[in-house]
Amino acid sequence: MACKNLLFPCIPLVLIFGFLAFEATARTLEDVSMHKWNEQWMARYGKVYKDSREKEKRFNVFKANVEYIEGFNNAGNKPYKLAINKFADLTNEEFIAPRNRFKGHMCPAITRTSTFKYENVTAVPPIIDWRTKGAVTPIKDQGQCGCCWAFSAVAATEGITKLSTGKLISLSEQELVDCDTKGVDQEANYAYKGVDGTCNTNKEANIAASIKGFEDAPANSEKGLLKAVVNQPVSVAIDASGSDFQFYSSGVFTGSCGTDLDHGVTAVGYGNSDDGPKFWLVKNSWGTEWGEQGYIRMQRDVDAEQG
Ligand SMILES: *[C@@H]1O[C@H](CO)[C@@H](O)[C@H](O)[C@H]1NC(C)=O
Repeated sequence: MACKNLLFPCIPLVLIFGFLAFEATARTLEDVSMHKWNEQWMARYGKVYKDSREKEKRFNVFKANVEYIEGFNNAGNKPYKLAINKFADLTNEEFIAPRNRFKGHMCPAITRTSTFKYENVTAVPPIIDWRTKGAVTPIKDQGQCGCCWAFSAVAATEGITKLSTGKLISLSEQELVDCDTKGVDQEANYAYKGVDGTCNTNKEANIAASIKGFEDAPANSEKGLLKAVVNQPVSVAIDASGSDFQFYSSGVFTGSCGTDLDHGVTAVGYGNSDDGPKFWLVKNSWGTEWGEQGYIRMQRDVDAEQG
């Protein structure tokens, strides 16, 4: 009798418990494979954490990033893709802080002119890729150092040096970081260490390339930037905050961009994609595994005047 009365409420309960058990199993399986993926990722990038608490914390960040990236790619509604990369155990805040430090770097040794030498340029080919003209050195990796400004300036200097002397020489970011330099040595002679060091004055005397001055392309003008990039690789500041930038892997980046300039990169060309937006071809300094072998194509001709 008692059971008969209980039977009715029992059925939905069984169903609910059954469902919960299934959910729990699925989640555990998911966690197991996520842990496995995390272990493989750690092995690949040689990650070692100081204790199990830190490891757990990093696992949770990794998992959140994987979920964000999968969600983004599955939505499939943007002309670019994201991917897990070496930054996958960092939150976006942690990622931005040390790497992107553009502000406040002046170039005391050279003259800034207020003119714009390319103001009257009218011949603008549909595509420019300075790599094909041999004016771009291979992708470099700034590591943990907030030295993006040096990589950005050096890539522009390497470009104009090639265009004016015919020689492509990989120049030393480290010397810019260490010294208020009047010119820079070859990278081969003054190697990258990724930390602020004291200036090696013996080496400072060796000059592989120097520039006499620099000027700004007109602010908030993609047309102005175009006139400059037609003529040489150009050092540019961008807002590289945001998870989409952290995990960008391919395509034309149309992600929302702020105007809080925090990262230095180099525009080395531009083009038109067949099925997507027009883009700037941008050299970054985060190694070849990030983006398209170290490059990002960023949307060009956007409505906002800031580009
Ligand atoms: C651009 O053209 C104007 C008008 O002819 C001229 O005054 C100016 O000097 C030119 N600018 C440059 C950088 O050549």
